[in-house]
Amino acid sequence: AMDTFIDELMAKMTLSEKIGQLDLQTSVRDRTGGTVNAEYEKLVRAGRVGGVFNAFEPKFNRTLQQLAVENSRLGIPLLFGYDVIHGHMTMFPQSIGEAASWDPELVKQGARIAAKETAADGVMWTFAPMADITRDPRWGRVSEGAGEDVYLNTVLSVARVEGFQGDDLAAIDTVAATAKHFVGYGLSQAGRDYHTTDVSEHELWTTQMPPFKAMVDAGVATFMTSFNDLNGTPASGSKFLLTDVLRDQWGFEGFVVTDYTAINELVPHGYARDDKHAAEIAFNAGADMDMVGQLYLGYMEELVNEGKVSMDTIDTSVRRILEMKWRLGLFEDPYRYFDEQRAKDTLLAAEHLEASQDAARRSMVLLKNDNQTLPLDLDTLDNIALIGPLADFDSIMIGNWRARGGRSKPIGVKRGLEAAIGDKAELHTTKGASFNFFADAAFAESRADHMVTYADPNDPKLAADIAEAVKIAKQSDVIVLAIGEHQGMSGEAASRVELTLPGNQRELMIELKKLGKPMVGVVFSGRPNDLSWEHENLDAIVHAWYPGTMGGPAVADILLGHANPSGKLPMTFPRSVGQVPIYYNMKNTGRPYYADNPNQRQEHYKSRYDDSPNTPLYAFGHGLSYSEFQYGEMTLSSDTLTLDGELTVSVEITNNGKHAGEEVVQLYTRQMVGSITRPVQELKGFDKVHFDAGETKMVSFTLTADDLAFYRADMSWGSEPGDFQVMVGTASDNVQRLSFKLID
Ligand code: IFM
Repeated sequence: AMDTFIDELMAKMTLSEKIGQLDLQTSVRDRTGGTVNAEYEKLVRAGRVGGVFNAFEPKFNRTLQQLAVENSRLGIPLLFGYDVIHGHMTMFPQSIGEAASWDPELVKQGARIAAKETAADGVMWTFAPMADITRDPRWGRVSEGAGEDVYLNTVLSVARVEGFQGDDLAAIDTVAATAKHFVGYGLSQAGRDYHTTDVSEHELWTTQMPPFKAMVDAGVATFMTSFNDLNGTPASGSKFLLTDVLRDQWGFEGFVVTDYTAINELVPHGYARDDKHAAEIAFNAGADMDMVGQLYLGYMEELVNEGKVSMDTIDTSVRRILEMKWRLGLFEDPYRYFDEQRAKDTLLAAEHLEASQDAARRSMVLLKNDNQTLPLDLDTLDNIALIGPLADFDSIMIGNWRARGGRSKPIGVKRGLEAAIGDKAELHTTKGASFNFFADAAFAESRADHMVTYADPNDPKLAADIAEAVKIAKQSDVIVLAIGEHQGMSGEAASRVELTLPGNQRELMIELKKLGKPMVGVVFSGRPNDLSWEHENLDAIVHAWYPGTMGGPAVADILLGHANPSGKLPMTFPRSVGQVPIYYNMKNTGRPYYADNPNQRQEHYKSRYDDSPNTPLYAFGHGLSYSEFQYGEMTLSSDTLTLDGELTVSVEITNNGKHAGEEVVQLYTRQMVGSITRPVQELKGFDKVHFDAGETKMVSFTLTADDLAFYRADMSWGSEPGDFQVMVGTASDNVQRLSFKLID
């Protein structure tokens, strides 16, 4: 039925109307809502718009849809898209935080709820998940993805697609997902956004492609091109990526949208002579829909008339977009996503807020906890100082890409702690420090409305803030620091060259440290920071990412022990920015340096730094708990694995602590010798397991030859018989290992 319907529709479409379907406009909705700009209205009426993004709310979107359906010649409905990255109105933890839960079901559930709210708010397409593998925390967009590891990222990206799309795109509570950014964007040189990327063929296929291929297999509806120049070809104009790989090799059937004005950017990239040439390149490469750039609108007709773009290619792209509209049920009822009552019942539903608080608790990572400083025991505390620029900052909890999250009335740390503590202790709050981080004072000024910032680092107000903090800390039994980055310091176009906490937060902590009181740091940020100083000087540290609408209550749950931390790092935390890129599954090198081998300590010509250990501050997979998980000795069902056989890896784990808790048990392998050099460790499985206090459980994983497959020297995919190690443990740097052989 779909094919016949679309054949008949396309037979009626003029070239101009077909080109209209290839155009994605950004909404011109003003702050008061409900007005439609005249220029834009003209385009919709003329059938020159395929989709709109940044438009939401049933009433407004209905007005736009009516324009298209009732006032354009063929009445083709518009597609409505939006960046629903970690929640629509009920905000979940920022994606990297959610990834720190290492819990695919939780991640899927977050996307499911986001989809329900999105679809109830008039939008049926989200620009998520972002599956870029990210190893450089200077890049602000690490906050939007699932971190450095290809396996974890793949599992979680697929979970997100499944959560957004459900089993049926036509259901009124699901949305079409977008696999982005295809591809290599996470490799932006020196962590500077939009920068060049250059990667070997092996590395591209080994670390960047797998999550995208897995999302195709999971039925992701759309793909977004990436801004970066990949090995000399901008990804948004790459026929290799958009046609040879995506269509011919992987059989992707949805449509491809470019990133925002990415086609126009082929000109400054130096890949197209002018806008018209850019449109020709991008379209012929396989970019079906032009986001915002309006180059297809402007030049496509000429390009067809000049024979530079074929009608066949136009028809193929138009068909893909119309098919998506069909699959979303828009031809059946173009107004099906616009129901005010449904929006009212769905947005911020109590169970959504509960799920968001649960997700927040389960994604926080306890980085350090000396002397069981945490959880705080209210029976022994009369006065608690809550100090830091994030202490009383509700809106910052939801991080960047907040969709409509501002409306969710996020609860910050002060309000969260106050409610949880009640009259059991006194809470004294002050900000103490600021995030004055911009090198450029004029830029700082321009963003002052949403940055807590002083353009002048010598502003006397800064010293006064610290003095006030010291005063209240003196009267307190414990100092809880709410520190980190402003949410505007991560996300798109938000790269940093320093990873330390910005502004005068260090100065504040130095003064507080002099009081000799226990200090607990709760760090909020969208990236791995350099927390070396904090690690040395604070008693306990929780990394809370940007935890979402219910961030404050979730922080209170963790600090007071109403919840037990179970997050594990999805990205390595370096000791200093100089170690970047640093990631756990590195190669061994010809001169590996083993710091714990005393014979090597004096050796000079090893792969090492003179002024820093090689090891990170906190390794991938690291995360403590209030429980004490004791690992027994791991066992293997055999010391050989055949190509069609199975190997069982088991370990008995006991929770020796007083608290029930969850442990993410991690499985890694290493291929000792390969046709190309192999990483020292690769994640192959994980399991988040609940343990009551005192409980013992046997945790097992099954390995097959498929799990050991990789792109071999000749680029074929498969495993290679030989010697392997298998590792099980609580973090990538805290494992037991055994050897086995893979045999023919
Ligand atoms: O979806 C985003 C993308 O990730 C970055 N550029 C803008 C797009 C639309 O907002």
